[in-house]
Amino acid sequence: MATGCIGQSRYVIDTPSLCIDLDSMESNIEQMSRHIVRGGISWRPHAKCHKTPAIALRQISSGAIGVTCAKVSEAEVMAAAGIHDILIANMVVGETKWERLAALCRRSQPIVACDHFAQIEPLSAICRRNEVTCRVIIEVNIGLDRVGSRPGRDTYDLAAAISKLDGIEFAGIMGYEGHLLRIEDPAEKRKQIFDALSVLSECADKLRRDGLQCNIVSAGGTGSYQIAAECDGITELQAGGGIFADPFYLEQCHVSDLKPSLTVLATVVSRPTLDRAVLDSGRKTLNPDAHPPIVKNWPDAQIKRLSAEHCELTLGPLSQNLKIGDKVELIVGYADLTTPLHDYFYGFRGDRLEVIWPIAARGKLQ
Ligand SMILES: Cc1ncc(COP(=O)(O)O)c(C=O)c1O
Repeated sequence: MATGCIGQSRYVIDTPSLCIDLDSMESNIEQMSRHIVRGGISWRPHAKCHKTPAIALRQISSGAIGVTCAKVSEAEVMAAAGIHDILIANMVVGETKWERLAALCRRSQPIVACDHFAQIEPLSAICRRNEVTCRVIIEVNIGLDRVGSRPGRDTYDLAAAISKLDGIEFAGIMGYEGHLLRIEDPAEKRKQIFDALSVLSECADKLRRDGLQCNIVSAGGTGSYQIAAECDGITELQAGGGIFADPFYLEQCHVSDLKPSLTVLATVVSRPTLDRAVLDSGRKTLNPDAHPPIVKNWPDAQIKRLSAEHCELTLGPLSQNLKIGDKVELIVGYADLTTPLHDYFYGFRGDRLEVIWPIAARGKLQ
């Protein structure tokens, strides 16, 4: 980590490096927090796009109630940084992970998702033995057809069974409307998200009528957060990636009012012909799945091909004066797949490097 670079210009630091425009990220955090909290909903942003406690703590200081993670090991990193209200919005299975989750309950208050009794009964035994209680929510399948218990009888029976277990506190339900993010027509998108999330709120109402505590009704990603924040009965939103406002969200999900803030800074290492430049940032630093990266500030430069170590650009007349050694910024198409390739975020205020954050949960996959 080149801490000696703090205060230096963007064009001095070594490449390829993963860069955050701090003004844009902070404005996105404020915008998301204001929008969600204004709807009377809590914000528990998913950390999968940044995997970095320093950023989660910024979100918390802007109004988030905690953090959402995908893995127990990510939750451990967040807890070690003093973040205690952590939702693991994923199924946790296996003796080793249940033991780690029970250990985590000693120093924080995790919540874990499930969609079957088989994921929670063994956790209950381990929590009992460790004299801790773990909060559990049920993921309901609201149409994504990934995981999730079926809404209705399956979910009510599972909730009733879980709430009888020692060492377990039934805390509510969640769903993810990820199949509805890309609907083009705004009215249709709104209608379908309202319909999907009403399945969750009706489920929660029925559980409460049955006498169960259903304090958490969690949903919402960045691609739908502006709509989900208006849905009755939802208590918290997991939207996270909007802090970087990747083109995936802006172009494929039609999310407005957020500014892209994440780029990979690269160096021109070869100029084979007048209309071609080659950068030092290939797929090992930039994953183009989900959405391709975009060349920043050079509107007629197009990405032609990404190989492991190289990014080949096709240049139009405006960008043909790029020369070997020049720096080029590539806007990351979808941060979730690029962040885990890097050790550090380089945070810039305007053109000056202000901070270097270790991506502390990088490689935390278990
Ligand atoms: C369980 C869950 N919650 C929320 C999200 C939304 O996250 P983001 O706002 O970063 O797109 C996702 C995205 O994949 C998810 O899988």
